[in-house]
Amino acid sequence: MHRHTKNLTAGLVITLMVCISALGMPSTSQAEEKTLYQRLGGYDAISAVVNEFADRLFSDKKLAPFFGALSTDSKDKFKQLNTLLVCSATGGPCLYLGREMAVSHQGMGVGEADFNAVAGHLSATLDKFKVPTAEKEELLAAIGALKGQIVEQKG
Ligand code: HEM
Repeated sequence: MHRHTKNLTAGLVITLMVCISALGMPSTSQAEEKTLYQRLGGYDAISAVVNEFADRLFSDKKLAPFFGALSTDSKDKFKQLNTLLVCSATGGPCLYLGREMAVSHQGMGVGEADFNAVAGHLSATLDKFKVPTAEKEELLAAIGALKGQIVEQKG
């Protein structure tokens, strides 16, 4: 091999090694910038939380005027759409396929107390799953921000 070719080969090998080790290096910015979706534990963890939350809504007597007469299939659909909503709202890879909040709740006459009862069930569910305070508050704030689109009357 000519000297020139040897140098070139050695240079390429070194460049390649540097590139490979850079790929394997954990970048601190990546670790710090985890989405809420990732910090909640991803799709399966979110789905488990939403299923439990929804079952609480379905069995709460105070909320029976809203959820009491849903068919089993409607309950399953409610769970799936809420999982997709939380997944997409927290930075996950899902596409929310349901109707907008203002549209899907229009005419139900949801009051502030009803909304707070629903939010309370979410909070209790997050506690049951031992979701850390920071993640819990972030999710409750995101859900709380939807209040104006869902509540139609005081009380
Ligand atoms: C706390 C924030 C809330 C969120 C994130 C939320 C989310 C959703 C979603 C994603 C759907 C499905 C939309 C679709 O079918 O396209 C839905 C439907 C529904 N929501 Fe909510 N909701 C909230 C609050 C409430 C409250 C306070 C009530 C009543 C107390 C309520 C009662 C219902 C009912 C009865 C349905 C319709 C189920 C059906 O007809 O199949 N929601 N909600």
